[in-house]
Amino acid sequence: MADYKSELVGTHASIVGLRRLIEKVAKSPARTVLIYGETGTGKGLVARMIHQASARAAREFVDINCAAIPASLLESELFGHERGAFTGAVERKLGLIEAANLGSVFLDEIRELDPPLQTKLLSLLDTQQFRRVGAVKPTKVDVRFIAATNKVLLAEVSAGKFREDLYYRLQVVALNLPALRDRGEDVLTLARYFIGKYNAMYKRAITGLAPETADIFLRYAWPGNVRELENLLERIFILEEDDLILPSHLPARILRSINAGPAPQPPEGLAAMPEGDFREATEAFQRVMLARALDAADGNLQTAATRLGLSRHALRHQMLKLGLAKA
Ligand SMILES: Nc1ncnc2c1ncn2[C@@H]1O[C@H](COP(=O)(O)OP(=O)(O)OP(=O)(O)O)[C@@H](O)[C@H]1O
Ligand SMILES: [Mg+2]
Repeated sequence: MADYKSELVGTHASIVGLRRLIEKVAKSPARTVLIYGETGTGKGLVARMIHQASARAAREFVDINCAAIPASLLESELFGHERGAFTGAVERKLGLIEAANLGSVFLDEIRELDPPLQTKLLSLLDTQQFRRVGAVKPTKVDVRFIAATNKVLLAEVSAGKFREDLYYRLQVVALNLPALRDRGEDVLTLARYFIGKYNAMYKRAITGLAPETADIFLRYAWPGNVRELENLLERIFILEEDDLILPSHLPARILRSINAGPAPQPPEGLAAMPEGDFREATEAFQRVMLARALDAADGNLQTAATRLGLSRHALRHQMLKLGLAKA
């Protein structure tokens, strides 16, 4: 049976290239890797693959979501603490980074990392040493950091929320996971793969997608990417009894968005955009547009401005207004 946990399915040129890059990066001495991709594009999967293909595979792969742990706890989770370092620290505690010695640490949603922890991480990357909370002496450690983000980090850098030096440090080896809608027929390859997985899991014999369904899959924008596709198929396995996946099995929102015309390419983050307050929503939209243009232009204001049909001055003004730059 196929390994449904760690296989990067797809034959699109971008995915073939990515598989080669994963092998290369895994075998390289790189101490940091940055994975960039929209939600559900497979960042967690790729991080695990990098670990598994590396000489570190026999050691720990520690998976930390920087957004899930409050900043106040994250420091001692990551770096550990000495006895008596703070109230309640009754014993020395080993941090996750130390536990991953000779292995890999996956820092998911890296842009949520608190500035003081960004500083501590950068110093660890520079010296391969760190101090447990409350420690006098540094501890040596050999880990590879794999960081992931689903938003352009450059916007946080311009806003002063993400350290520029850490950004460039992470940017040295960066992998881009393409959105599912940019992978051509891979959406059908992946659908077949997940149908195989759920046939085995649910003891079913679904043969595949009806041609009309395949057509819809190719035109839909998949804002939730591979995860959305997988969840949709699993839902159909649970709710439907036919042996062929029909358009009538699909949720109304998918059918609606298809009928609304050729696959709209929603700007990243549109799905999560606030409803209600008009000004807030509009500003959120403008922020995403600017951040994308700036990222595509590698931070070059003039190039980004041209792309947006604005003057450099007008772009700068907008960036200040939207909090993407400091005066
Ligand atoms: N190319 C692929 N082949 C097979 N399975 C995939 C592929 N891409 C993603 N998956 C599966 O889709 C699901 C979502 O992927 P994953 O959790 O890695 O995405 P993510 O980019 O980390 O998402 P998020 O930003 O929401 O954390 C997982 O179950 C993963 O195994
Ligand atoms: Mg993830």
